[in-house]
Amino acid sequence: MKPKIFITRKIAEEFVKPYREHWDVEMWHEEGTTVDRQVLLEKASQADALITMLSDAIDQEVIDAGVNLNVISNLAVGYDNIDVDYAKEKGITVTNTPDVLTETTADLTFSLLMATARRIIEANQYVKEGKWTNWAPFLMAGTDIHHKTIGIVGMGRIGEAIAERARGFNMNILYHNRSRKERAEKEIGATYTSFDELIETSDYVVCMTPLTEDTVDMFNESVFKRMKNSAIFINTSRGGVVNENDLYTALETKEIRAAGLDVFQNEPIGQDHPLLQLENVTALPHIGSASYETRSTMIELCLQNIQQVLAGKEPATPVL
Ligand code: GLV
Ligand code: GLV
Repeated sequence: MKPKIFITRKIAEEFVKPYREHWDVEMWHEEGTTVDRQVLLEKASQADALITMLSDAIDQEVIDAGVNLNVISNLAVGYDNIDVDYAKEKGITVTNTPDVLTETTADLTFSLLMATARRIIEANQYVKEGKWTNWAPFLMAGTDIHHKTIGIVGMGRIGEAIAERARGFNMNILYHNRSRKERAEKEIGATYTSFDELIETSDYVVCMTPLTEDTVDMFNESVFKRMKNSAIFINTSRGGVVNENDLYTALETKEIRAAGLDVFQNEPIGQDHPLLQLENVTALPHIGSASYETRSTMIELCLQNIQQVLAGKEPATPVL
């Protein structure tokens, strides 16, 4: 019998075609929607392997349902949506998609930083809405990026790639991380600081830390209070690292200048989300790694990881 693979999202047939000879591949049937929970449980109970999205909660219930499961292949570098410890206990391998999305996510993070600083989205709307009737010295004036201080919290692969971009803009680069990063210091010129020093002295505070028990609500009222009033906060990691009520207050009271957010606590968010009511928020729908090239490579990596595990080999990118 062929191994059964279930993909929790509808993806293009061309990706799975090469595997169909050896695998029985099924996927969620409907374009643009997330898998129904009951369907996920039912498919998990039959599958040898799952390809999952960051929006799927792969909790104990799903893992318990997966009596034949060998591997859960998450289409993301982050894996806070999966109960990894429980999967391991059950002998299930979990894989993610690091490295292949590093540069693309750094591009998006830097774009969001620039868009927020220079009010690009707001300015675009202004022109498109026919409001541009005058040139004025401070029309849509933003804040400089070059020669300012960027503080990167969470200096993993993506953090370093952001630092490389910042160097090109002649920024002063600070970082905070659990461990020191020699390459970032020697080759990129980044300076290691304490978390406190970073948030107090940075013009741009960029959150790149994964969501774990230790980082939940890491950016809260007391942290925003200690940032400069001119600080811009950027988050392309996970919404759960930020206390959104505290961020709202900090932005509303101009405790900090602005925020650029690609991620939120409960995604997707609707138009009525409080943060969207603020003019100093630039919001994106979790598109950090969303280039055609990178998303395609991520899907291919997910499939390869499954192939390796099913062949009894070590997958290319297991979650450690
Ligand atoms: C995206 O957020 C990812 O974790 O890949
Ligand atoms: C602006 O467009 C300038 O010429 O200074």
